Amino acid sequence: MAETLDAGERMSRTELAALQVERLRATLHHAYENVGFHRQAFDKAGLRPEDCRTLGDLARFPFTTKADLRDNYPFGMFAVDRSRVRRVHASSGTTGLPTVVGYTDRDLDTWADVVARSIRAAGGRAGHTVHVAYGYGLFTGGLGAHYGAERLGCTVVPASGGMTARQVRLIQDFRPEIIMVTPSYMLTLLDEFERQGVDPRSTSLKVGIFGAEPWTEEMRREIEERFAIDAVDIYGLSEVMGPGVAQECVETKDGLHIWADHFYPEVVDPLTGEVLPDGEQGELVFTSLTKEAMPVVRYRTRDLTRLLPGTARPAFRRMEKVTGRSDDMVILRGVNLFPTQIEEIVLRTPGLAPHFQLRLTRNGRLDVLTVRAEARADATREERAEAARVVAAAVKDGIGVSVGVEVVDPETLERSVGKIKRIVDLRDGG
Ligand code: DLL
Repeated sequence: MAETLDAGERMSRTELAALQVERLRATLHHAYENVGFHRQAFDKAGLRPEDCRTLGDLARFPFTTKADLRDNYPFGMFAVDRSRVRRVHASSGTTGLPTVVGYTDRDLDTWADVVARSIRAAGGRAGHTVHVAYGYGLFTGGLGAHYGAERLGCTVVPASGGMTARQVRLIQDFRPEIIMVTPSYMLTLLDEFERQGVDPRSTSLKVGIFGAEPWTEEMRREIEERFAIDAVDIYGLSEVMGPGVAQECVETKDGLHIWADHFYPEVVDPLTGEVLPDGEQGELVFTSLTKEAMPVVRYRTRDLTRLLPGTARPAFRRMEKVTGRSDDMVILRGVNLFPTQIEEIVLRTPGLAPHFQLRLTRNGRLDVLTVRAEARADATREERAEAARVVAAAVKDGIGVSVGVEVVDPETLERSVGKIKRIVDLRDGG
């Protein structure tokens, strides 16, 4: 395998650490000198970029949040002249303003490199055909995957999201080895294969590179079995770059290697902001190490995970699969619940299809959560009733809270075409 790794991946831990310190110091200088927001934040904390001498010193520097990016909408966080910004992307805020990010030529080059590295870790090679069904547009998924696949020397099919029947046709006709898509849209494709009477196990696909939303080991098993492919996880966020910040490799499937020659990770206590030791669960924070157009300093992702030692890429620490983001956490009568916990239960319950939705309503002063899960097409009335009982009991035993469970008819829940929305909140005025 060694011959397929790039120079960055072959670095020793010591070499990587030396490179990180050098790049970190350069980033802090760049941010301080060129972005008003960072200059004010450092000044307020009584810090100068040169106060960062070791990687550990970074912990003294102030965080950046999504709200800070919004406050500086649209281009206030850019650190280079507008003439050097070659592209912008934006993440659609569910409320208010989107967050805008920018890239120089060199940033786009770096991004293509890390995505190429990610696809290679997933098993992709030059000459493979990659079907990209992440959305193209302001979302970073489509174009990010696209340029990375080209960089690796693959043939790209820029399908984007939607037009599901056509996706199935393209996969049959163009015979891609690799698909890059959200896991939830992959399930939509699964339905469509079956509707067209095509065995999803019979396609040319060998690997799926899934990300942009949380998904569980149960979902991995479901997709791998139903399509007869390997399913691996890709992570990223637009504020830090886009897809390709971290990638699981197909050989070990043991969490995601963080490409820390470009993105320096920390995990902090979400409440106190204190840096946590590796192995402890907390909020993932990134500092960019090479970005020009929009360097980020200690950006709080709101994603919850743990840092683990390197394995297949020894110098790069891994992050555990992100199972939740603080924004998606439902607090129900004092109990914290993540949609992925429900996903695990629904996917292992006989009689249920892998489609579900969480509906929040209010009964007087009490919040009520109803799991709406779809029955498999062949499930009998008794099996459906039993499935509802099993899910309710598993949630009560495993998570410690009572929820309602409704098993609905096949093909009644709305399907995903990109990132799925699991929670339907009808509590206020709904
Ligand atoms: O979702 C970038 C991306 C595109 C990643 C395609 C992977 C594949 P944003 O729209 O800015 O960027 O959303 C970023 O999505 O903070 C996580 O909460 C979530 N997310 C992304 N990848 C994963 C993953 C893209 N593999 C936000 N597992 C992040 C869990 C993920 N959550």
